[in-house]
Amino acid sequence: MICLTLAEDSIEKAILKVEENREYIDLCELRMDALSPDEMKKAYAFPSLVNIPVILTFRRKIDGGRIEISERSRRLALLDALKGDFSYVDIEEDIKKSEVEDKAREKGIKIIRSLHDFEKVPEDIFSRLYHLSERGDIAKVAVTPKSFQDVLTLFRVEEELRGREKIVIAMGPFGVATRILYKKLGSFLTFCSDSEVAPGQLSAKTLKTEYMADKVNEQTAIYGIIGNPVMHSASPLMHNRGFHAINFNAIYVPFLVDNVRSFFMFAEYVKMRGFSVTVPFKVDVLSYLGNITREVKQIGSCNTVVRVPGMWKGINTDYYGFIKPIVKDIDDGRIKSALVIGAGGASHAIVWALRNYGVKVTILNRTLSRAENIAKLNLCDYDSIENAKKYEGSVDLIVQTTSVGLYPDEDKNPIEGFKFTGNEIVYDIIYKPKMTKLLKEAEKAGCHLHFGSEMLLEQGKLQFEAFTGYHYPHWVDSGL
Ligand code: ATR
Repeated sequence: MICLTLAEDSIEKAILKVEENREYIDLCELRMDALSPDEMKKAYAFPSLVNIPVILTFRRKIDGGRIEISERSRRLALLDALKGDFSYVDIEEDIKKSEVEDKAREKGIKIIRSLHDFEKVPEDIFSRLYHLSERGDIAKVAVTPKSFQDVLTLFRVEEELRGREKIVIAMGPFGVATRILYKKLGSFLTFCSDSEVAPGQLSAKTLKTEYMADKVNEQTAIYGIIGNPVMHSASPLMHNRGFHAINFNAIYVPFLVDNVRSFFMFAEYVKMRGFSVTVPFKVDVLSYLGNITREVKQIGSCNTVVRVPGMWKGINTDYYGFIKPIVKDIDDGRIKSALVIGAGGASHAIVWALRNYGVKVTILNRTLSRAENIAKLNLCDYDSIENAKKYEGSVDLIVQTTSVGLYPDEDKNPIEGFKFTGNEIVYDIIYKPKMTKLLKEAEKAGCHLHFGSEMLLEQGKLQFEAFTGYHYPHWVDSGL
């Protein structure tokens, strides 16, 4: 179930939020600690006004609550609210048997017994969960993973406490994947909000329509992307839409990872069939692969990992993703020479792709030695980026591979002042923004443009094929 956390200061605003999200949610949580003191008195009426199951929660300040209030007043407020038709009430782990608990039991309101840790995942999490659920209540832990290893621990909860009703929430950036995959953790609900009431929360709409998180079942295969940072990635939307369109029972999730080794342990644990790899792990994953393609070997980086019998196999779809939009121009002889700006990981794949298609390449980079390294491996020329003007009018294709011009530095161009003749094809692999400063200038001169989103889409389509065995459905809007 998808549960909307409501931290509004009035009942009226809380009702409005429920209405805005009604189609995406199954229940909601009224956070009494966010209500103004006058509004708290009206809390009891809330369930009958929204007509969906409601969890009643009054968080203490130490557990992330919004208001400083005496424990006695807090309990009195809860007791008063329990006059209403709430379905659940949240009571903290360390609260001894209280009038609130008695009243809830008397009224048949289910008790969620909760434990919060904003610092870490407690070492004794399994036994604490076990104790929380002992009295037949729903055990809830909201903890904060500090590493991907902690995330793996939380996925083990289901194995340790199978069959017990529980809520497992991982807060903070590492926790996002657990909020999406809540059903795989054995959690009977996930919390969401429009305004990130707790760190790492996603919106109800994203969970329901992008991830279809509530449709996950035991058979659902987990795919995803590992990176750091990773939440900006456009890949989840693209792959989830594709899976949905072909009725493929799978979900694609962004995984913030700090350590590739713990991710491979996780991938084994949840029997992943494949995942995408982005910065900074495209080289780190290589040592875990039992098999790599020619492209991965040559380029020295891998952006896609798939399970093959007995091992993980690494492929590189950046190579084909990049070349696909311009391959016709190469075949037609329209592109014979290219200037590649930048000498990082992306540049390496691109230079190799162009050389493989017989294009003469010159690499320009700020740090000359990096350009030299790639140039030597691929038999091409190199120069300092400061000399860019030397190449004006002499190349058919210009490819921009650096991070210069990337959101939010959209007013930057790595070859400021470079004069285009208008005959060049100009390709910027940045996809946010779509129209970079460099592309704007090239367009003004009349150049033909290619966008980072084209490369992203093409490499994504190939990943989709590697993951599912099917073509990416042509009728789907990939979001790119
Ligand atoms: P990726 O894997 O995305 O290619 P990378 O390996 O970090 O990322 O490479 C980044 C590229 O952007 C490099 O070519 C880098 O130039 P240096 O090798 O001199 O570092 C380039 N780059 C980043 N910031 C830059 C800047 N402000 N001006 C010019 N080039 C820059």
